[in-house]
Amino acid sequence: MNRGIAIYPGSFDPPTNGHLDLMERGAKIFEELVVAILRNSEKTPMFSVAERLEMLRELTVHLKNVRIDTFDGLMVEYAKSLNAVCILRGIRAISDYEYELQMALMNRKLEPTLETVFMMPADKYSYVSSRLVREVAQAGGPVKGLVPEIVEQKLRAKLEPAYRFHDEPKEAEVRVSASKEKEKKKRKKKL
Ligand code: PNS
Repeated sequence: MNRGIAIYPGSFDPPTNGHLDLMERGAKIFEELVVAILRNSEKTPMFSVAERLEMLRELTVHLKNVRIDTFDGLMVEYAKSLNAVCILRGIRAISDYEYELQMALMNRKLEPTLETVFMMPADKYSYVSSRLVREVAQAGGPVKGLVPEIVEQKLRAKLEPAYRFHDEPKEAEVRVSASKEKEKKKRKKKL
């Protein structure tokens, strides 16, 4: 088998522990793994391409044969420009399969020499997706364990008001507990 360059393309908005798990597995198999962030996505991202590039670089410093890059246009064209032999994609559950199969077959139609290789992340990440992480974080919920710590910090910084709302008691709750304290003191005095 030619174990040359493989591309791991995606949006990575934001990178999750599932993505990182897959990069670690891919890095063991291929000579070089290029994690490629799509630049021209139709979706409005939460993190800019520059932010995602920086996060991914920081997250993969320990993986010496992993490189982070960005691409535009057709992925197979980008892969060809790097002489890549493989496209790496992760499959979590059967629900991913249909979309991934379509994409793999379309890419094969576009470039028959390029193979798609699917890998499964650790089962503890099988429900983790960037979309759900964004949704939970945007509502002020905890994402610990779903994303690397630096991503969690960036999410907190970006969504600070939501997190403040989640972490701190609401104003009304503060008022209720203060009046409860007053009542207690009054009762003590009477006794
Ligand atoms: O993380 P995602 O959003 O599932 O990644 C999707 C991605 C970036 C791999 C896919 O949309 C892609 O390769 N886009 C580039 C355009 C392209 O080549 N389209 C044809 C492939 S079907």
